Amino acid sequence: MSTIILDGKATSKKIKEELRDKVMVLKGKGVEPTLAVVIVGDDPASHVYVRSKKRACEFIGIRSLSYELPEDTSEEDLLGIVCELNDRDDVNGILVQLPLPKHISDDKVIMAINPVKDVDGFHPVSVGNLSIGNKGFISCTPYGIIELLKRYEVPIEGKNCVIVGRSNIVGKPISILLLRENGTVTICHSRTKDLKGVCKNADIIIAAIGRAKMITDEYVKEGAVVIDVGINRLEDGTLCGDVDYEKVKDLTSYITPVPGGVGPMTIAMLMSNVVSSVS
Ligand code: GUN
Repeated sequence: MSTIILDGKATSKKIKEELRDKVMVLKGKGVEPTLAVVIVGDDPASHVYVRSKKRACEFIGIRSLSYELPEDTSEEDLLGIVCELNDRDDVNGILVQLPLPKHISDDKVIMAINPVKDVDGFHPVSVGNLSIGNKGFISCTPYGIIELLKRYEVPIEGKNCVIVGRSNIVGKPISILLLRENGTVTICHSRTKDLKGVCKNADIIIAAIGRAKMITDEYVKEGAVVIDVGINRLEDGTLCGDVDYEKVKDLTSYITPVPGGVGPMTIAMLMSNVVSSVS
């Protein structure tokens, strides 16, 4: 089986270049897309993600406003900042990096963001629009997966799509997007019986469990498409996905690497959401 590597890094770069052209046109009309990025506390992984998002903004020409708040910021203060950003006409998108410190409710903060600025696609209004097929922001990781599959012309229609993981950020929204593309969708989770058997029947597997190298060759049918959403750090410091890439790769028709697969696509689609928030 010859395997095609779905190169998220190269595809993301291409999307960012396309967005840079669009932003140039917007700026020519006097419109400057602006993203406000809010981070609370010192979580190192979150700071890495936020830095990548700000760097992508710079590359494209999106103005980014940075709010780096201390760990002991109160929920009330954070909600106040979100309200201010909602009210500012010069801010198009608001991103509050998750997870937040334990004393702050993620839900309350997400609910406080005006849905017209919800470039993460996490607000219940965005989730509702997605589920009934209305226009609205689509959360960036699932959006990035679909975009990657489309750009490589991987067929989805009629395919047996198995999602492992039912999170609000990935599992549930990717199920809706695959359904929208006329896939036949199964969502699996920790209580699923015979997970290996279910996966073994899949034409497309989306692995979003958060357990390093869990999906081995025993889960994958010959010729399957395997999308790995996991980012796990091993004891030796290296990154790996939820898929055992070396064991699985040669079985697949298409596979995403980690790093360089879904991760960069998430950032590209965030940027795309920011640009569409003004145009
Ligand atoms: N934490 C992990 N992924 C994300 C994301 O896509 N958006 C936000 N806001 N926080 C995250």
